[in-house]
Amino acid sequence: MKCTSILNGVFGLTLFAISSAGFAASNQVKQGKQIYEQNCIYCHQADAIGKPGFAPSLTNKELLSIASDKFFMSTIRDGRTGTGMPPFAHLGKKGIQDVVAYLRTYETTANRSKTIDAQPASYGDARQGQFWFNQICVTCHGVEGTGYANGVVGTAIGNKDFLRKVSDGFIRETVKHGRSNTRMLGFMGPTGLANLRKEEIEDIIAYMRTLDKGNNRGR
Ligand code: HEC
Ligand code: HEC
Repeated sequence: MKCTSILNGVFGLTLFAISSAGFAASNQVKQGKQIYEQNCIYCHQADAIGKPGFAPSLTNKELLSIASDKFFMSTIRDGRTGTGMPPFAHLGKKGIQDVVAYLRTYETTANRSKTIDAQPASYGDARQGQFWFNQICVTCHGVEGTGYANGVVGTAIGNKDFLRKVSDGFIRETVKHGRSNTRMLGFMGPTGLANLRKEEIEDIIAYMRTLDKGNNRGR
């Protein structure tokens, strides 16, 4: 008898600990959703599906699977100078964490950001990359990747606030596989928007790095 009641006690305590952690998490998501609706929905739209040429999707499954919390949090905190993405430092670390927790509820596959960000830096040739970039990427991302400001559908991939936070692995993965349900299709294989060779993708990344003097690789 004594033994069962001790067991019950321990068991009850564990259950309580689990449910209170669950409660804290769902409360965080609730708060994050509210912050999203007050601050982000105008541009990123309901369910953060984005709007071509205006704001990217934040609930796209490829983005959610390769973006680290660090990438999300620093992008939201600092914004992207010279684009429509304003800084939200005033939400505080907790507010930003809450909104990221809300976005994460749309995640459908395991997060791979650790392996993606640990990929080696591009070994490409920036001069070759500039040629490919101008041939293929400028149509949607603008000259030197300046983005929507040029009336194009793609984001500012030459923007320094983007380049300083993103790893070569993130860019490589996005160029290879694209983002489903957006205009950003992958560039590898016969179903790609163009079938680029691995080397050509490396060259493009090397060129993109010159747009921010090649200093920082999002590490
Ligand atoms: C006034 C419009 C506007 C508002 C408000 C806004 N954003 Fe953005 N956001 C943008 C634009 C435009 C971009 C793309 C900038 C570019 O061209 O690189 C962007 C990019 C982003 C990105 C990077 C996505 C990627 O694909 O790399 C994240 C993350 C993001 N916004 C989160 C948020 C969150 C969270 C909020 C609310 C706290 C918010 N944004 C509010 C316009 C906005
Ligand atoms: C047909 C149009 C189109 C072409 C061509 C295109 N992109 Fe994109 N790209 C997009 C769009 C649109 C997005 C943002 C997706 C969204 O709106 O949610 C994007 C997003 C990206 C991102 C993620 C940026 C971010 O803010 O997180 C990278 C990196 C990228 N593209 C690289 C490239 C490169 C490199 C090329 C050339 C090889 C290229 N793209 C060609 C339309 C295009």
